[in-house]
Formats: sequence, C-alpha cells, structure tokens
Amino acid sequence: MLTISNINKTFFPGTVNERKALNGLNLEMKKGDFVTVIGSNGAGKSTLLNAISGRLIMDSGNISIAGTTVNRMPEHRRARYVGRVFQDPLAGTAPNLSIEENLSLALLRGKKRGLGSALTSRRRELYKQELAKLELGLENRLTAKVGLLSGGQRQALSLLMAGYTQPKIMLLDEHTAALDPQRAELVTTLTQKIVADGGLTTLMVTHNMEQAIRLGNRLIMMHEGQIMYEASEETKQKLTVRDLLGEFAKIKGATLSDKAMLG
Ligand SMILES: Nc1ncnc2c1ncn2[C@@H]1O[C@H](COP(=O)(O)OP(=O)(O)O)[C@@H](O)[C@H]1O
Ligand SMILES: [Mg+2]
Repeated sequence: MLTISNINKTFFPGTVNERKALNGLNLEMKKGDFVTVIGSNGAGKSTLLNAISGRLIMDSGNISIAGTTVNRMPEHRRARYVGRVFQDPLAGTAPNLSIEENLSLALLRGKKRGLGSALTSRRRELYKQELAKLELGLENRLTAKVGLLSGGQRQALSLLMAGYTQPKIMLLDEHTAALDPQRAELVTTLTQKIVADGGLTTLMVTHNMEQAIRLGNRLIMMHEGQIMYEASEETKQKLTVRDLLGEFAKIKGATLSDKAMLG
C-alpha cells in the first residue's frame, strides 16, 4: 500500500543551519498495516509524514501509494489518498464552519467537483450515523460551529473526517499529545475503532511508548532521519517499554561513538 525508497530531505543545505531530516529512509507497508512510530525530538517523524502527504517535496527518493508514484503529485491531489490528523486540534477542522459543513468538506477532499446542492436530509442522516459512533453526542449538534468544541471533541471529529473517505493511508502525528490524559485515552480508543472499522493502513507517531506498543501491528523507531529499529508483529507482542528504552540507549550510544570517531 505504501512503498518508500531511499528518501532524503535536507533543510537549509550548505548553510550553518543545515539539517538532514530524512536520510535514506526506507519503509514498506502492506494493506491494513498499522505502524506506530517513536523517536526523539527532531528524529524526522513529522518530516516523514509531510513527505508522504506531499506537504513537503523531498530532495530525492521515491514514494508510492497503492501503486501510484506520488513524488511530484501536489498535496491537494494526494489528499484523496491520504487522511491526516495533526497534534494541534485546531489544525484538522475549520472553526467557523459547523460540524456538518466540516464533514461535507471532508467528503469533498481530493474530489474535482463540488457536492452540488446544499446539505440534503439524506446526507445529514449519514453524518448523524457517523457522529454517533464517536459517542460524544455530536450527532445532535450538526449545526454547531466547530470552534465551540473542546480539543478532544475536535480531535475526534478530525479523526472521523480523516477516515471518512477511506484513504489509502492514514497519517496520525502525535494527535493525542495536546489532550489531557482522559481525553487522550478517548481519542486513542476512537483511533483503534476507526482504523479497525475501515481496515485503514495507518502510520501513527506517538511519544508514548506504552501506546506505541499497545497499538498497531508493527513498530519503528526513528533517529536522525532513519529507521534504526523495527519490531515485527511477532516481536511487538512481547515488547516492553524497558526493551524500547534499551534500544534508544543503544542508538544514542552508537551515534555518540560515531561522532567521537569522526572527531
Ligand atoms: N520546515 C522546516 N524548516 C527547517 N527545518 C525543519 C523543518 N521541519 C523540520 N525541520 C528540522 O528537521 C529535523 C526533523 O524535524 P521533525 O521531522 O519535525 O522531527 P520530529 O517530528 O521527529 O520531532 C529537525 O532538526 C527540525 O528542526
Ligand atoms: Mg514531530
């Protein structure tokens, strides 16, 4: 479903601020794979997601989604392949539009033509059914402005919208990090439900190692623009936070000695 081959991205090349955000990264995902991504700050996790969604153009390498090479495809055209939820609850929804208008926008995503006439009662009924799945009572607030919702409610709605059009790949970038623990747990549960119901191929960045182990069928650890550790489905079932901390320490130690060797 997703093939990433040898992708590279350097910010501010040739300047003192040069940052190699992606360094020859490779990743293959099968249909229905749910891969969790961990790694320290600046490891390149968000850059990887940006490269997949087309927000960012890579320096080199290849990305194909469901067999289509998307390297030069602009973000708005990739939108029909990609569903995305960001860390910031304000990023995924339009505050001045109502819940139903936001859902209509999600339906339009990546389509050339508009929805035609305004919201029909049939479409409203569909929206209500979808919203009811969130169990937040939003199905009774179709015309409420999204700006009035809490962060957790907005993230739940963002998730629903991102998964609505059955994207080929779902990208989640620390989408529970800005929420209090209780709401984060709710959005995590919804994530599992939406991914499972839609059979969505999913790449989820999280800073929560316990969550990274608990969710999904594969886990990768990034460092300095590369995947430094990967746990298969089998390994992941037995994996502990302690194991991951050990892997982190190994990677950091290796990097430090590399740097020491280079002087
Ligand atoms: N738009 C950008 N302009 C310049 N540097 C960037 C930009 N985005 C990311 N970087 C740099 O690239 C590296 C990887 O960043 P990022 O992918 O955001 O890491 P992560 O999400 O793992 O914390 C960091 O050093 C970051 O400062
Ligand atoms: Mg990030």
